[in-house]
Amino acid sequence: MITIFIDNKPCQVRPGQNLLQACLSLGFDLPYFCWHPALHAVGACRQCAVKQFKDEKDTRGKIVMSCMTPVAEGMRISVDDAEAQAFRKGVIEWLMLNHPHDCPVCDEGGECHLQDMTVMTGHNERRTRFKKRTHRNQYLGPFINHEMNRCIQCYRCVRYYRDVAGGRDLNVFSAHDHVYFGRHEDGVLENEFSGNLVEVCPTGVFTDKTLKQHYARKWDLQTAPSICVHCGLGCNTIAGERYGTLRRILNRYHHEVNGYFLCDRGRFGYGFVNSEKRIKQPMLSPSLSPSPQGRDANTLSPLAGEGRGLPSNASIGGEGPRPIDKDTVLAHITAVQSGAKGIIGIGSPRASLESNFALRSLVGPENFYSGMSEPDHRLVSLIIDIHQKGPARSPSLREVRMADAVVVLGEDLTNTAPLLALSLRQAVRGKEIEAATKLNIPAWHDEGVRNAGQGARNPLFIASPESTRLDDVAAKTYHAAPDDIARLGFAIAHELDRSAPAVHGLAGETASLAREIAQTLKGAKRPLVISGTSLFNESVVRAAANITTALCAGSKAAALCYAVPECNSMGLGIMGGRNLDEAFTVMDDDLADTVIILENDLYRRADAGKINAFLDRAKHVIVLDHILTRTASRADIILPAGTFAESNGTLVNNEGRAQRFYQVFVPQGDIQASWKWIHAIMNAAGKSANDQMQSLDGVTAAMAGTLPVLAPVRDIAPPADFRIDGQKIPRQPHRYSGRTSMHAHIAVSEDKPREDADTPLAFSMEGSEKQPPAPLITGYWSPGWNSVQALNKYQQEIGGELRDNGSGKRLIEPDPDGKPAYFTVDPPQASRELEGNAAPKYHIFGSEELSGYSSAIAERAKAK
Ligand code: SF4
Ligand code: SF4
Ligand code: FES
Repeated sequence: MITIFIDNKPCQVRPGQNLLQACLSLGFDLPYFCWHPALHAVGACRQCAVKQFKDEKDTRGKIVMSCMTPVAEGMRISVDDAEAQAFRKGVIEWLMLNHPHDCPVCDEGGECHLQDMTVMTGHNERRTRFKKRTHRNQYLGPFINHEMNRCIQCYRCVRYYRDVAGGRDLNVFSAHDHVYFGRHEDGVLENEFSGNLVEVCPTGVFTDKTLKQHYARKWDLQTAPSICVHCGLGCNTIAGERYGTLRRILNRYHHEVNGYFLCDRGRFGYGFVNSEKRIKQPMLSPSLSPSPQGRDANTLSPLAGEGRGLPSNASIGGEGPRPIDKDTVLAHITAVQSGAKGIIGIGSPRASLESNFALRSLVGPENFYSGMSEPDHRLVSLIIDIHQKGPARSPSLREVRMADAVVVLGEDLTNTAPLLALSLRQAVRGKEIEAATKLNIPAWHDEGVRNAGQGARNPLFIASPESTRLDDVAAKTYHAAPDDIARLGFAIAHELDRSAPAVHGLAGETASLAREIAQTLKGAKRPLVISGTSLFNESVVRAAANITTALCAGSKAAALCYAVPECNSMGLGIMGGRNLDEAFTVMDDDLADTVIILENDLYRRADAGKINAFLDRAKHVIVLDHILTRTASRADIILPAGTFAESNGTLVNNEGRAQRFYQVFVPQGDIQASWKWIHAIMNAAGKSANDQMQSLDGVTAAMAGTLPVLAPVRDIAPPADFRIDGQKIPRQPHRYSGRTSMHAHIAVSEDKPREDADTPLAFSMEGSEKQPPAPLITGYWSPGWNSVQALNKYQQEIGGELRDNGSGKRLIEPDPDGKPAYFTVDPPQASRELEGNAAPKYHIFGSEELSGYSSAIAERAKAK
């Protein structure tokens, strides 16, 4: 640490930063616009001015831009200097010359960095009397709204969109004194990470169009920390609700995972929570009797073949399923259980650990099936095995961003694990930073880094069946059938370590590519291999493992990252159980006649004929889900399960990191977390020994006791009785309005806030205003900082860890004493017709199940 003097007070700061970062980390309120911790400094807006003095005797000093000035031992600056203050006030006055001052009708109002900085600098009077410059707005697609008049020309948007996200269709255009940020013509913003503009733009130019469609003021949202459910990466989010509907998703900073950004599927895919297809009450198939009392469970319904299940066109409240009250449905289920020959439970990789564990406990581990298809289950199990026994660490996304040589085997990451693709775009830019560092240019100096780097990139090799959206930053691409991609991987491993199995009959060009990649990985400091399950090809997964095993054999600390299909694929894989196909066999062999299906549309996982046969054979089908899927419509009993926004639970991401998501709001009707429903089923059946399962802490404790590998899950977040100064943490901000009137059309008295016995969070604005531990951060706010940039106040240092080291716990670490063996090379396939060479295609908008129910995502999916 070095000492600098700010307004004559000595302050310890980390060397290598710029003054703005240092001042913000120390808690000074210094305004800024063009600087952003993920975009670095360009010194464009002149808003962050401070006075710098030569030494103690210098009383005159000079104005410098703090974002462009490196900290140095003994340096003396003033933030409070009158001239510096006047300069900052003047800058904001000219930035505001053409601003429409339309805060009351602006979607950004109340959460706007420009508002905050205007107040901070003391600019409170408009002196100019001239007409304001105006612009025409553009249609930019279903995600982003455009209001160009609010622009202050900070250039953050184009720098983010082009330099960070790799987009090409947003740019800056100018003529005379008109500077315009938009597309060359109206049209959908093409980049898959366009939604981050909403948070990057410091004013109301780019705002969330999905929020606009059911707008609520930001301070009127009830919010909770959450985890994205739309792929296996586990990005951290903040979800906001008003009047019982989910209104928006914001990024929740996690230093090790998503950093400052989300993908568009994660940000705009939340609409399924508000879908018309939601199941809100327990339902019975019309074929079932109204009451189970006094009847033999076997006579409850025809329950087989044509007669069982809901009509395929069933809709809530229509002619199909019949809503039923909670007690009656539980009595029905008890009757079904007592009459069943055998009950199996089918879990889900899109449901929480807690819900899967509860189902496993209800039916017994021997009757629990993961709900993953055979190939998914096999590949995820293989990946877990590789991570547990192999020498290579599964990297966090931050570690991916730090990699200096990468090979991707078989994944189209932009479409299967989007933030991994965004992280690789940052990883390749590391080469320019390396060049700059050699010239003593700091990494935060954007222009200096560009000049030093001259566009140099860290090597990225992509082997995939077809071109991918990342090819533009790849050093080399190799497009081939899945088995040939695997053979390239095995050949790279052999080049790295001759004791790794060799690949025979490789074409000369491929062999030379394998040599080149091996040499590059060998010469790197932080080599990374990425693969995944999307090709359903075991050889590709094994080949990736062979490469890192070979690198580690050469004493390299290599990282091995696998993309997995769903938000809890890894959690379910760790929990164990058999695959879906094995469940089919059990039913075929007449060993069970009842199936409980947890948050899983089986029709997405296997051939429809197989699923039909399976469900037809089952005498009773009980489904817990939030959407009336094709599978749910075949059930005779449906229970309304809470989505991520209506329940608490834990998900394990591809890295093996367990993370907690929290209930955002109390839903209408009987919707509740699946694990709560399963506890109610146990209770109704008189299994009182399972009382532990009625609370979140109880379920996680039971899970940890039963499955020691999941024991760290107990410590990923504070327990339910955690308090700050004896108080809970409010989900509603202290400015939350309308509480006394929002339900006045129903009753004039204000309802008591709903209680939350499961977590330290409260469905209320009352509670501690102190900063909570990272897993419990419901939103960022600090006096004078109302926008997302208030995050600065929650970090140990700007761009670094949150104050209590983030959240989540890794469940898998490499075995330091492990002696991993190489996988053998599979023989070449004789024909391209073989299964190993069929390559499925994915699209970020459309391939994932739940986001497909969101209208904005559906619109993008349709356009593809
Ligand atoms: S649109 Fe927003 S981010 Fe872009 S230059 Fe204008 S104010 Fe800055
Ligand atoms: S990358 Fe995956 S986890 Fe992250 S926001 Fe996108 S869909 Fe969600
Ligand atoms: S933030 Fe320093 S010049 Fe813009």
